[in-house]
Amino acid sequence: MTQSSFPVSAEFVAAANTTPAQYIKDYQRSIASPKANDDFWAERAELIDWIKKPTVISNVNYDLDDFRIKWFEDGELNISVNCIDRHLKDNPYKPAIIWEGDHPSLHKTLSFTELHAEVCRLGNAMRKLGVSKGDRVTLYMPMIPEAMIAMLACARIGAVHSVVFGGFSAESLGNRIIDSQSKLVITADEGVRSNKHTPLKANVDRALDMDGTQCVEKVIVVHRTGNSIPMSGRRDVWYHSVVAGESAECEPEVMNAEDPLFLLYTSGSTGKPKGVLHTTGGYITYALSTFRDAFDIKDDDVYWCSADIGWITGHTYSTYAPLANGTTTVMFEGAPDYPTWARVGHIIDKHKVSVVYTAPTAIRSMMKEGDAFVRESDRSSLRLLATVGEPINPEAWDWYYEVVGGGKCPIVDTWWQTETGGILIAPIPGTVALKPSCAMTPLYGIMPEIVDSDGEVLEGLAEGNLVIRGGWPGQMRTIYKDHERFLQTYFTEYPGYYFTGDGAQRDEDGHYWITGRVDDVLNVAGHRLGTAELESAIDSHPATVEAAVVGMPHEIRGVGIAAFVILKSGETKDEQIKEELNRHVRREIGPIANLDAIYIVDGLPKTRSGKIMRRILRSLAAGQYVGLGDLSTLADSSVINKIIEVLRAED
Ligand code: PRX
Repeated sequence: MTQSSFPVSAEFVAAANTTPAQYIKDYQRSIASPKANDDFWAERAELIDWIKKPTVISNVNYDLDDFRIKWFEDGELNISVNCIDRHLKDNPYKPAIIWEGDHPSLHKTLSFTELHAEVCRLGNAMRKLGVSKGDRVTLYMPMIPEAMIAMLACARIGAVHSVVFGGFSAESLGNRIIDSQSKLVITADEGVRSNKHTPLKANVDRALDMDGTQCVEKVIVVHRTGNSIPMSGRRDVWYHSVVAGESAECEPEVMNAEDPLFLLYTSGSTGKPKGVLHTTGGYITYALSTFRDAFDIKDDDVYWCSADIGWITGHTYSTYAPLANGTTTVMFEGAPDYPTWARVGHIIDKHKVSVVYTAPTAIRSMMKEGDAFVRESDRSSLRLLATVGEPINPEAWDWYYEVVGGGKCPIVDTWWQTETGGILIAPIPGTVALKPSCAMTPLYGIMPEIVDSDGEVLEGLAEGNLVIRGGWPGQMRTIYKDHERFLQTYFTEYPGYYFTGDGAQRDEDGHYWITGRVDDVLNVAGHRLGTAELESAIDSHPATVEAAVVGMPHEIRGVGIAAFVILKSGETKDEQIKEELNRHVRREIGPIANLDAIYIVDGLPKTRSGKIMRRILRSLAAGQYVGLGDLSTLADSSVINKIIEVLRAED
């Protein structure tokens, strides 16, 4: 925990949406009692256009015998109406989406009126293809406006979208389609990033060859690059053909507040990725409300969140929250290094971006290339910078603050998760001096606690596991088709609390510092990967007997992946097998699962009951060969020295 703090400039504070004293007053009021908490959320629900206004606010009980999470349960609304239609009267021509293509010559702006027409056309087309309320639709899309249009069109007709990140493999896509039993898939011929093409449609074809995907009746394909792709006669239809001739009006489905809005698969510490389910009324109230608070949003902001729509940040803070608020959202198809590392600055200048929300990994990779690229732009439009997804180290914070923001923009470090739906901890800008790498203060209505391993709540200065007392409208409702796993993962270890899976420290000012995952989930470049998932991908290679995966420090991506692998006897322990294993894992999971280090070993450190002691492997992978702690429970301690020999040979 560093002691330095950066006061927000007087100019920013003067124009901020709230004041330090007001934040404390409002926060205290929002958590004063269950009734006060309900009153607070009832007020925030006023930001939403309801078809039927809710009279019940929260109905949350974490007691496993009588477990329930419901928000605004008698309310009715449609999220696409909140994101689009309600802005048409006052702001019909305001840009809703500014799309910046991979190549700098490509850009497109959709006003709220245009977005409305596009969403309605696709909604009508989907209905004609037989999709109705409650049906699941998988989206496997590049960062093009049609991706947001498809999400909103699902919301309009009450279909439940399941967006699968375009960097996941055909296999991962297929597994998610099988779990969600989607009726429809929407994709593109190819994705484009840094002038490289990803074969999205070909991956869909391979995924749909998998057993269990017979649920998919149609595939809608957006024409992005025009390169030739096979279209299967009965199943595949072009996006432009199905929307052509459709009406620009589409009756929105009346949704109950607790009707599902989307599924989003995320990795856990065990087993296969889980389908996190979010519902309608609570999610959009929380998204909109936290968006305004955390980013100090003004009517004329041009807001750019760099997250891919395949992640929760791309759902909540690229799409739903800005659009529900009537804010212009910038969507970028490409990568920060194309055509050069000056691209981010050029996009900021070109579209007069005022708020940027990105991940520390992106900041570190730009920082490594030097300041000159950033200084090619003037970035005078910027007023606020934000980060998400992983801890930001002080050096990257300083660079973001001084070089990108020119020392005038507060940095909002936002802590949250796929499960939480929206930000839970972040400094509300202008209310507090910022501490680099610290997520700072809870947002309104949120009650974080730190508990020790016995579940004892720690007061004041503390370090332990981060849990949340009580509920909030944006929280997940279940794991799709696996409510038991939901209860087990989040509500069993510390009864009465939501367990985040993260560790945290609270300093003498009551500010929260996130220390990282305390379970077997790796946070690689801000993306979650389960060690179990990675290990089973390695184990599925015919040359392997067993593998153990741990995180290791990585200069750019924060956490890298280290794999300790035992090969079958007779296999050659050379570079070739390592490359082959890496290719295999990338093929199984997707390119985000890149193994940074592979160590071929003869044995793994296991307890007498056969459990792998990852703690030891984590130390070894970080280059710490001595002071490995208590080794008395190891079945065979000689494996440690043998592993150290392998590591030394690689140094
Ligand atoms: O470990 C925390 C880390 O990312 C995890 C959640 O990952 P995911 O569900 O993919 O959502 C990422 C985007 C919200 C958390 O359990 N994390 C997220 N934000 C921060 C963070 N770690 C430190 N600081 C943050 N600001």
